[in-house]
Amino acid sequence: MDILNYGDLVILSDKKARKYMITLKEGARFSSQYGFIDHAEIINAGNGGLVKASKGEEYRVFKPTYIDYVMKIKRNAQIIYPKDTAMILMYADIYPGLNVLESGIGQGALSIALLRALGGRGRLTSIEVREDFALQSKNFIHNFLGEVDNHDIVISNIYDGFEGCFDRIVLDLPEPWHVLKHCKTGLIDGGMIVSYIPTVLQVKTYVDTLKETGYFDDIETFELIKRPWKVDGLSVRPEMWIYNHSAFIVKARKIK
Ligand SMILES: C[S@@+](CC[C@H](N)C(=O)[O-])C[C@H]1O[C@@H](n2cnc3c(N)ncnc32)[C@H](O)[C@@H]1O
Repeated sequence: MDILNYGDLVILSDKKARKYMITLKEGARFSSQYGFIDHAEIINAGNGGLVKASKGEEYRVFKPTYIDYVMKIKRNAQIIYPKDTAMILMYADIYPGLNVLESGIGQGALSIALLRALGGRGRLTSIEVREDFALQSKNFIHNFLGEVDNHDIVISNIYDGFEGCFDRIVLDLPEPWHVLKHCKTGLIDGGMIVSYIPTVLQVKTYVDTLKETGYFDDIETFELIKRPWKVDGLSVRPEMWIYNHSAFIVKARKIK
């Protein structure tokens, strides 16, 4: 059992695995069609515990995982889905101590994953053209990670260039090919650039540009399809409907 406190985020999960994310507040109540639950009871139940609504329905209490958090929040920008984020961290080879550049920040979902992988060492710089996204993502990140002192958010158009030289660059932009000319001095030799690109026409322009620069090699393009299964008694089969396409991932490596 883990201690919960007022101010913490929690997930309440009902029997049908519907999840609700709330922030615990002193004197507050969670309400649903099954009645109400005092937040104080949720604290008493603890992480992994059970609480009963006033009409008898039970809810499991959990601290939210990264996936709960980014999938449950009301979003203003399209996020990178966790199945893709996991692979981006691997293909960009993110580990503590690196100097990482990300653009744009959007909701800040990828930023949280990058900051966690950096583990408080190294630095993340996020370049975002929209001031409103820069501000809201800062709150979104803070709400989940608390104080972070190795993250800078820079408001600018990355297509015009950026300062510094990074170990890794991760892009989630409409026209990522405009960034490649700046990587000649902005990415270390041997460094990785990983881009998240929704359509094949964008992928073609991007990969053609990677090749034309002459300073990228080890280029790989792929997509990931997560195929969930239903396992319920004798009904063991793939789910009828899946979320089929998110985006392509293109990885490349800078050469001398
Ligand atoms: C799809 S969102 C990024 C979502 C983010 N990866 C996440 O997981 O939450 C794309 C972001 O790129 C920003 N953007 C678009 N063009 C840009 C540019 N030229 N320079 C910097 N940011 C840009 C947009 O404002 C938007 O916030």
